[in-house]
Amino acid sequence: MYVRSFADGDGDGTGDLAGVRARLPYLAELGVDALWFTPWYRSPMKDGGYDVADYRAVDPAFGTLADAEKLIAEARGLGIRTIVDIVPNHVSDQHPWFRAARAGGPERELFHFRPGRGAHGELPPNDWRSEFGGPAWTRLPDGDWYLHLFAPEQPDLNWAHPAVRREHEDVLRFWFERGVAGVRIDSAALPAKDPRLPDFVEGRDPHPYVDRDELHDVYRSWRAVADEYDAVFVGEVWLPDSERFARYLRPDELHTAFNFAFMTCPWQADRLRACVDETLAEHAPVGAPATWVLCNHDVTRTVTRYGRADTAFDFAAKAFGTPTDLALGARRARAAALLSLALPGAVYVYQGEELGLPEADVPVERIVDPMHFRSDGADPGRDGCRIPLPWTAGAPHAGFGPGREPWLPQPAGWASYAVDRQQDDPGSMLALYRAAIRLRPVFGGDAPLTWLPAPDGVLAFSRADGVVCAVNLADAPYAPPAAAELLLASGPLDDEGRLPQDTAVWLRL
Ligand code: GLC
Repeated sequence: MYVRSFADGDGDGTGDLAGVRARLPYLAELGVDALWFTPWYRSPMKDGGYDVADYRAVDPAFGTLADAEKLIAEARGLGIRTIVDIVPNHVSDQHPWFRAARAGGPERELFHFRPGRGAHGELPPNDWRSEFGGPAWTRLPDGDWYLHLFAPEQPDLNWAHPAVRREHEDVLRFWFERGVAGVRIDSAALPAKDPRLPDFVEGRDPHPYVDRDELHDVYRSWRAVADEYDAVFVGEVWLPDSERFARYLRPDELHTAFNFAFMTCPWQADRLRACVDETLAEHAPVGAPATWVLCNHDVTRTVTRYGRADTAFDFAAKAFGTPTDLALGARRARAAALLSLALPGAVYVYQGEELGLPEADVPVERIVDPMHFRSDGADPGRDGCRIPLPWTAGAPHAGFGPGREPWLPQPAGWASYAVDRQQDDPGSMLALYRAAIRLRPVFGGDAPLTWLPAPDGVLAFSRADGVVCAVNLADAPYAPPAAAELLLASGPLDDEGRLPQDTAVWLRL
């Protein structure tokens, strides 16, 4: 949940905890059993809250610590657990540690400060690039440089320093004490750095800052803290190597991690099937549940991605003006919803996905995402998937809030996706998500998956008790097994009961 864009309770144009609390019944009705909140802590919002100035305070734009405590308790009362987001790789440049470091204090050791190269130290200490584009180093007026793998306002912490480890374990306890049931770990494979900070050499192993072995020791001690509270972790671990990925999921480390292979997989039957198989195979040896993700607050929204010629997701390929067939994308997104909700493991739904929201074209002068600016304007950035939600079609700002204009503009026609338009329409995306989440237990929790024989371009698998999910990605209509009871369909079947292209069904044999 991207709080800033979920619902605005106080009318200042920014979503807040009061807005979430007022909409908890909506979330309960949708059937979610946990909410992951992107950072709600005090932050200058240079990267949407992923620049944390104080982990023990809620940003005033979102509310107060007391509001967070009420939200956690009220959600719990509705059977919904709360997951907060911890960002170990960096803090805000307004965090007290960095302010002291900038002033020349011993806190510099908590970050990566180095003199520059070149005759006058005018060159960065190494050649690392920021994930948002440009160099990963910024020079202070006193001549020293500091490392930031993201924006300059997000200085990287030095995880070789014991105070950094202590502080994070304290922060975990702070939130667990307040009833939080889980933590999402931001950029979980990045915090440890080669202490020599060498130049980057393509293919050299180990990488100077991605997936370093030292990290596992950090997460093992986090796990011990979580175990005291029976809390769980979900790691943001982007790693192409499935064996390396699975190391984070060993029994004494993280409980789960996001499945980015699935989220970036093109809409192709063979690729999806291979991805499901690889996912299950990599999780099996460590005994961790898989996760299934179609989009999040960083990537192109699902209906837009699936409506394009290239249905994979790649940050490097994001461009303004990519042609998109939204009707096609929506049909596929509906089928993908039934596919992912039929798989064994946990499914993450990103706010607005259940409404079928497309990626919005944010007018250039309104873009705030640093990814756009750091690419010198080439990358449209991530604001298009962060547009304030439409709740009530006839209300100002589509019911996002009672007062000021939302912090990002809602595109024309946004009200047509509003919750009140969809909630009583059995053919809506919202109705499909509600029905699928309600029915999902028929697949039998973590019952194993067995592929069934199917023509090219069709995915069909069974789980418990003869319950089957079939998805047709081929041009030819697909006739599901005869005499099966239809439980749910992502779209109309043809006159002979066959699945047209880009349609999924759940059946009981
Ligand atoms: C993660 C977050 C993203 C943020 C980045 C830096 O990738 O999901 O939104 O910009 O980390 O904290």
